[in-house]
Amino acid sequence: MPVQLRVFPDTHQLVDSVVTGIIKAIFSELETHNRADIVLTGGGVGTAVALRLIAAIPQTAVDWSRVNLWWGDERFVPISSVDRNDVPVVSALAELPPPRPTLYRVGEPSPELSLSDSAFGYAIDVEKMFAQKSDSPGFTVVLLGLGPDGHVASIFPGHPSVDSALTCLPVDDSPKPPAHRVSMSLATLSNARHVWILASGAEKHDALDKLMTEDIETTDIPARGVRGQESTIVWVDRQAAFGAN
Ligand code: 6PG
Repeated sequence: MPVQLRVFPDTHQLVDSVVTGIIKAIFSELETHNRADIVLTGGGVGTAVALRLIAAIPQTAVDWSRVNLWWGDERFVPISSVDRNDVPVVSALAELPPPRPTLYRVGEPSPELSLSDSAFGYAIDVEKMFAQKSDSPGFTVVLLGLGPDGHVASIFPGHPSVDSALTCLPVDDSPKPPAHRVSMSLATLSNARHVWILASGAEKHDALDKLMTEDIETTDIPARGVRGQESTIVWVDRQAAFGAN
């Protein structure tokens, strides 16, 4: 299925459209399955989408107790650290009255939990969910921010993790700080109905250009290695599309 490109006049309209799309996908999933599973992403536009989605929860007639939120990757730092991708979402969810979605979080470093243990524990949660949905794609929507180098989640260009067969993997040498992270693999992220890649700002133009070029290898642009079973859409603003402010 071809990758679609959707261009928006600004980030605000991009975020609104993605959130509308996620809510529609959740409605559709819950018609036939008892749960919907959405993978969130960090970064500027990814965090804006997550917070707009949470703000829409009280106005939306979904049984949010059947919705589960995950992270495509997380920085392996203490749970109280503002460096974690999940911190703003945890705060926003805490403000909501029930029913709330369930948030799956990557375990934080401790004397009892190494980076590998954390990745392994997160993988067990993902695999249990995949097993419950053996008749359909695991994730309903996977959101991924596009890095200026073409990375998605914590899968970076030229890194052996591009070909990882693990469900979730420990990354101990991320070129983007912090070095220690837990990431779903590209194969895990592709076990999804919809994969939606988000890019905002002129600094994403080169990576976007390569992402949309057929003969570029996944190892050069990891974002090329993730595909949804029903849609793969790249949602961008004008700056990312045209490379100018
Ligand atoms: C991280 C971020 C990162 C981010 C992309 C896009 O853990 O470092 O989650 O992977 O999602 O770099 O971020 P922006 O949208 O802010 O450019």
